Amino acid sequence: MPSFAELYAHLSTHNQCHLLQWWDHLDQRARDRLVAQLESIDFPLISRLSHEGHEDCSSGRDRAARATPPTQLIAQPKSPEDRDLWQQATARGESLLQDGVVGAILVAGGQGTRLGFDKPKGMFPIGPVSQRSLFQVFCEQLLARGRKAGTVIPYFVMTSDATHDETVAFFEENHFFGLKSRDVYFFRQGKLPAVDDQTGQILLADKGEIALSPDGHGGMVKALRTAGLLDEMRERGIETLYYHQVDNPTAIVCDPAFLGLHEMHQSDMSTKVVNKVSAEEKMGVLVSVDGQTQIIEYSDMPVARTREVEPDGTLRFRAGNTAMHVVRRGYLEELVDQGRDLPYHRAHKPVPYLAPTGERIQPEPTAKNAYKFEQFIFDILPMAATALVVEADRAAEFNPVKNQSGADSPDTSRAAICRLNREALRAMGAKVPDDIQVEISPLLALHELGLVTKIKPDQPIADGTILTP
Ligand code: UTP
Repeated sequence: MPSFAELYAHLSTHNQCHLLQWWDHLDQRARDRLVAQLESIDFPLISRLSHEGHEDCSSGRDRAARATPPTQLIAQPKSPEDRDLWQQATARGESLLQDGVVGAILVAGGQGTRLGFDKPKGMFPIGPVSQRSLFQVFCEQLLARGRKAGTVIPYFVMTSDATHDETVAFFEENHFFGLKSRDVYFFRQGKLPAVDDQTGQILLADKGEIALSPDGHGGMVKALRTAGLLDEMRERGIETLYYHQVDNPTAIVCDPAFLGLHEMHQSDMSTKVVNKVSAEEKMGVLVSVDGQTQIIEYSDMPVARTREVEPDGTLRFRAGNTAMHVVRRGYLEELVDQGRDLPYHRAHKPVPYLAPTGERIQPEPTAKNAYKFEQFIFDILPMAATALVVEADRAAEFNPVKNQSGADSPDTSRAAICRLNREALRAMGAKVPDDIQVEISPLLALHELGLVTKIKPDQPIADGTILTP
């Protein structure tokens, strides 16, 4: 272990000596832990990020100026020809699933600060009647999708220090929601220190502990490699990866049409978009810049550009990011083999810390005192040789849980689940009053025939019904 003098000399070159302020108060174990944390930090990188901020900031506006709507975009089917294409794509995707070459990735390492739930967000009880958790909704979809295809779809679940232990325990307690434990892989993402927004100094969480936070969903690429999972995927014959986030219960996990379109276009990475509801909606948009498909963040898009319209009156930059992607496994391997790192984005956030006086400070949710640094998965899109953008049905597929109340909250998401389920039951001939709460188990929903056997023509459906196999 390095001596105090060596550590001090090293930290002084980066203006971070304050991290040793409490050294004399620490026992040997705490010192060892602190040294291990210090050794994991890339100080020149943190110093550059603190001073430069968002690496791509000026270029973000630059790119926005040159952006056009995405060139490779497949819209929702409208004509018989479109419907033919989507049917072909669905058949293609179903055959990929039957061949057992598809895996799913769930990123669940976020801290979910906006929702304010005291457990990992995946444990949030989103089921409007059953209170089933987000994790259960996804696992049951995956199970049903695998059963329908007569295959197994391995699930790669990214956690962080903030979510790992509780997530794994929750899966274990719930017997992996019907999946086999050997088909669920948990892998932990990396972490980066948070810095004081005024001084650029790294924050201490405690006397012997640095304030570290997850390195963003883009940390997934490195984390998969570190955990040996890219090799595991190759060995299992997995070629195509469906990627989704933990907050959208209506994501169609391993959607065959999406998988099929990706495959038919020989795409490295494909992404689903939804039409923005207004120019002001705070969503990143998919665009083309100099022939490359990429996302421009809402904050980088000048207001005048967000308001541009097509001759038919629709927003020109309406292709909003849903964070549902399909990625070729080999493409991820190529990125890590070539050492292509993703840019870091700087986020201004309230971060609890230990003040130099020894006082623990817990900033109010609105009192931003620190910068955190994150990588975003969508930054691998412009590096792809071929990329595809596919329009999703917004009402059916994009109902995320981000905030405690208002837009994108549990209320809006649960209401959407009930609405979709009422529509599904009416399509089967059931009599379903407006506004009742009804839930169909994902295990049943994928098996339309299964649902038919449960529902008789004109069968009345009561408020609070849960349909399970
Ligand atoms: P968000 O950007 O919504 O962040 O994550 P968040 O941490 O969940 O929520 P807020 O912003 O603090 O309220 C989008 C998805 O990316 C995952 C999240 O778990 C979610 O599925 N994510 C985010 C990670 O896996 N790791 C991260 O470091 C950040």
